[in-house]
Amino acid sequence: MDAPIRDRKVGVEAHRYRAVERIVDMRNGAGVVAILVLIAAGGVAAQQDKKKKPTPAAQVTIKSIMLGSHKEKGALVFRVRDAESTEEDNKKLLEEYKLISTMKPPLGDPKSWANRTGNAIAALQELVNKKSDGAVERVRGATECSGCHNAHRVGGNK
Ligand code: HEC
Repeated sequence: MDAPIRDRKVGVEAHRYRAVERIVDMRNGAGVVAILVLIAAGGVAAQQDKKKKPTPAAQVTIKSIMLGSHKEKGALVFRVRDAESTEEDNKKLLEEYKLISTMKPPLGDPKSWANRTGNAIAALQELVNKKSDGAVERVRGATECSGCHNAHRVGGNK
């Protein structure tokens, strides 16, 4: 026996409802995919950004080293020059001069830069090795500010 007309109608409605549900499902699915694509693209863009411009903190320059250890009262270079440094201090300053020796100063002859940084490295190495009593004196001469600034810094030692 056929179902009463009312029931058949309900059946059709239910079918339509399920079809709509499926479309909504698909839309949701597409939405999720779109969101995932956006997230992935964002991630890639962020990574590309990182590659293109390193964060300022990662960008070590002669200037950033000078500002970090040659500026404030009681800064690393002054502790070493005043014979008030620890062994760690001496090693750190040695590493810094090794690092700036590989960089290009804004001004001046590359040979002069190599000489100046090389002298500072030799003197600091001597201090670290505790080979001579005159090492601090030698470091003081080799890290003399104005000579190097006049040769290699824009505006000299102002
Ligand atoms: C071996 C060479 C050398 C020696 C030694 C040296 N400097 Fe420098 N310094 C430089 C150069 C080159 C710059 C410029 C870096 C730049 O602008 O890119 C600089 C820049 C600086 C700056 C940053 C200034 C600014 O804001 O632009 C300070 C501060 C500084 N030096 C302090 C000192 C002091 C204090 C001493 C001595 C205790 C000293 N430096 C010894 C080479 C040297």
